[in-house]
Amino acid sequence: MMSHQEIINKTAAFVRQELEQAEGGHDWWHTYRVWQNSKLISRSVGSNGDSLIIELGALLHDIADSKFHDGDENIGPEKAKTFLESLHLSQDIIDHVVNIVRYISFKNDWEERPFNSLELEIVQDADRLDAIGAVGIARAFSFGGHKGNPLYDPDIAPHTAMDKETYKKRNGPTINHFYEKLLLLKDRMNTPEGKSIAEERHQFMETFLQQFFAEVGK
Ligand code: ADP
Ligand code: NI
Repeated sequence: MMSHQEIINKTAAFVRQELEQAEGGHDWWHTYRVWQNSKLISRSVGSNGDSLIIELGALLHDIADSKFHDGDENIGPEKAKTFLESLHLSQDIIDHVVNIVRYISFKNDWEERPFNSLELEIVQDADRLDAIGAVGIARAFSFGGHKGNPLYDPDIAPHTAMDKETYKKRNGPTINHFYEKLLLLKDRMNTPEGKSIAEERHQFMETFLQQFFAEVGK
C-alpha cells in the first residue's frame, strides 16, 4: 500500500510532466497554486472534507482542458481515471476525484450539476481564485494572446447573457472577459474563506479596470 504522501507525490510528478507544453495560464504553476489554495481553504473549513480527495482533485483538475482539445469534455476525466487506476486506488476515491475533474469548470454552471461535494466546492473555489486578482488578470491576457484575441475593442460590447456553446467559442476582446466571467466569480464562491479572499482580489480587478479605462479615455 502506498502512503497518501506517496500517492500525492506521484500524482504531482505525473501532472507536472503532462503540463510541460501547456499554455502559460493553464500550466503546472496554475495547478500548483490551485493545489496550495485548496489546502488553505480546506484547513479553514476544519476537519471536514477528505484531504486526499481534495489534493488529487486539485492536482488533476486541468490535466486536459477541453478548451485545448476541440471542446472534448471527456478527455480530462478519462485521463485522470486512467492515471488513478494505475495507482490501484479504491473505486470510491477514483470516482470522486474524476467527478471533481468533470464538474469543476465554470462552463458547467449552465447546467444542473449532477454531482456535488465539499471536496469539489473547495477545489472549485481555489480554481476560481486563480482566475481573479493580479494572477487572474495575467492569465486572462495570456489566454487571450494564445488565442490571438484582441486586447480591447470599443466597438465590441461584452456578451453578458451567453449560453454555454457561445461561451466556449468566444473569441472577443480579453477586456470583455472580465464582464463575461471574471467579475462574476466573487458571488459564486462556495466557502467563507474562498469568498473572503475573492473579495480582495475582486477589488484589485476593479482598480485595474478603472485605470485601464482612464488610460484609454473611456
Ligand atoms: P473553466 O476552465 O473553469 O471552464 P475558463 O476556461 O473560462 O474556465 O477559464 C480558465 C482560465 O482561462 C481563466 O483564467 C480565464 O480567465 C481564462 N479565459 C477563459 N476564456 C477566456 C477568454 N475568452 N479571454 C481571456 N481569458 C479567458
Ligand atoms: Ni484550473
